Amino acid sequence: MAIVVRDARDSDLGALAELEAGVAGAAGWTRAQFAEDFGRPGRLVLAAESGGQVAGHAAARLSEGEAQLLTIAVRPELGRRGVGAALLAALSERARDAGCRAITFEVSERNAPARAFYVRAGARVVGRRPKFYNDGADALLMDITL
Ligand SMILES: CC(C)(COP(=O)(O)OP(=O)(O)OC[C@H]1O[C@@H](n2cnc3c(N)ncnc32)[C@H](O)[C@@H]1OP(=O)(O)O)[C@@H](O)C(=O)NCCC(=O)NCCS
Repeated sequence: MAIVVRDARDSDLGALAELEAGVAGAAGWTRAQFAEDFGRPGRLVLAAESGGQVAGHAAARLSEGEAQLLTIAVRPELGRRGVGAALLAALSERARDAGCRAITFEVSERNAPARAFYVRAGARVVGRRPKFYNDGADALLMDITL
């Protein structure tokens, strides 16, 4: 499957918001939240395109040498085809170019697929926030050294 990762643009807004709303485990960003980050310094919103469609996206804020990964989601029917890995690789490259030394993020301890995905990408657990999520799950604080 050919995957191209590029900066997200206004015409992607509907697809991005739809993905956030429809994918369990995504952060739930709204159209307005994405639009606010587009083109602003220190913000990165990437879209993965495949077959002319948005297959997934990732958003991060770059600050003080860190890229904080705020949301990443792949269309469920396109899972396990390398879309998430392509997004994370592109984000890593962009963050490194911007002088970041690490990608940091939180993940629910109950989100086993995402945890496996991050560990495969070289992430390690660096902390825990007890009962951070509405369902009572702890958040694992993780990072990837760039
Ligand atoms: C987590 C997510 C972004 C991964 O995207 P993806 O495109 O399916 O992942 P990839 O195909 O790039 O997977 C790369 C590797 O990660 C691991 N991995 C990915 N999904 C996995 C799963 N469900 N179970 C176990 N390992 C998994 C595998 O090692 C995989 O390589 P392999 O398929 O060759 O074995 C996607 O499942 C998703 O959108 N989840 C819902 C939203 C979410 O939870 N976001 C994270 C919030 S913190």
